[in-house]
Amino acid sequence: MGESNKNIVWHEGKVSYQDRCDNLGQEGLVVWFTGLSGAGKSTIAVEVEKELIKLGKVVYRLDGDNVRHGLNSDLGFTAEDRNENIRRIAEVAALFKDAGLITLASFISPYQEIRDFARQRAGEDNFIEVYVKADVETCAERDPKGLYEKAKSGEIKNFTGISAPYEVPENADLVLDTVKLSVEEAVTKVLESIDQRQGVI
Ligand code: PPS
Repeated sequence: MGESNKNIVWHEGKVSYQDRCDNLGQEGLVVWFTGLSGAGKSTIAVEVEKELIKLGKVVYRLDGDNVRHGLNSDLGFTAEDRNENIRRIAEVAALFKDAGLITLASFISPYQEIRDFARQRAGEDNFIEVYVKADVETCAERDPKGLYEKAKSGEIKNFTGISAPYEVPENADLVLDTVKLSVEEAVTKVLESIDQRQGVI
C-alpha cells in the first residue's frame, strides 16, 4: 500500500448496491469493447447505447477519444501511459457499475493484463469483454481518421498494429468480426449478450 493510503479507512454508506439497482430496475454492467483503431468499437457502442436508451436502460458510454480530452488528457500512447489510461477507466467503469449503470467502454486497450484488471474490478458477473475484430490491413484501408497513413509515414509513433502491439483477447465473452458482420448484426449480438446477463430485450 502506498504511503498516501496508509491512514485511509473505507466509509460504509447506508445504501447498498442492490438498493441502487432496485431503484433503477437493472443491474450494473460493464461492456468492454477492445480492438484496433478503426475496427468499429465506437460505431457499435454508439448504436448499442441508443438501443439501450430506447429500452429504458440507464447507460453511459466511455470512449478513448473523449476521455483523453479530460480525465486522461495527461496521458500519451507509450505502453505505460496506455496501461494507466485503462487502469483509470477500469476504476471509473467499476464505480459506474456500482452505481447500477450499464457502461459501454470503447478503448483499444491493447494489453491483456490490464483488460483482466478491468474485469476483476467490475466483477466477473458484471463484465462482458467484446473483441471487435478486424485485421490491420482492413482497418488501414478504412482509415476513418487518416491515422494509419500518418503512422505508416512515421508521423505518429507507437501506433497500435503498425508500431505498437495489440494482444488479441484470450478470454473474450463475445467476438465481433466486423469484416463479415454489418453494424446492425454486431449491435444485435451485443444486445443478446447483455440480455443473457439481465433481460433487456
Ligand atoms: S489505449 O491504447 O486503449 O490507451 O487507446 P485509447 O484510449 O482507446 O485511444 C485510442 C484513440 O486515440 C487515437 N490515437 C491513437 N491510437 C493508437 N495508437 C496511437 N499512437 C494513437 N494516437 C492517437 C485514435 O483516434 C484512437 O481512437 P480509435 O477510436 O481507437 O480509432
